[in-house]
Amino acid sequence: MNRLMLINGPNLNLLGTREPGIYGSHTLQDVVAEVKHVTDDFGYDLEDYQSNHEGAMVDKIQEAGRTCSGIILNAAAYTHTSIAIRDAIASIPVPVIEVHISNIHTREEFRHHSMLASVCKAQIVGLGIKGYRYAALALLEK
Ligand code: DQA
Repeated sequence: MNRLMLINGPNLNLLGTREPGIYGSHTLQDVVAEVKHVTDDFGYDLEDYQSNHEGAMVDKIQEAGRTCSGIILNAAAYTHTSIAIRDAIASIPVPVIEVHISNIHTREEFRHHSMLASVCKAQIVGLGIKGYRYAALALLEK
């Protein structure tokens, strides 16, 4: 399947205006464009999805498990709380790379732990929206 899935979780629809000192001034549209450059280069399709709802994200992860060869996932706040998203990742055969724009390990203590990291292929943090590009490259380069 020549297709990647990009999933962004709660409040990432507000990128650009949301706490710009932490998340920068790039918008979600910029994030999608960043990844699309890479998928285009490799002749892959990109599906992008954003939701503020945990169950909807679980549904999308399950769907991507059937239709895509990899997932780039910023589960935002659900990273730190969601066993349901963790179980969805563990249930599918395709690699998932966890991305965070900020460095969650240098922020508040409650952000240090990811419920998802141990079922993901890798975690990329603190590199701003470039992290999404590196995740796409990691999934596509042979
Ligand atoms: C985030 C980090 C999370 O802790 C936070 O809840 C977010 C964004 C990031 O990309 O840096 O919403 O995932």
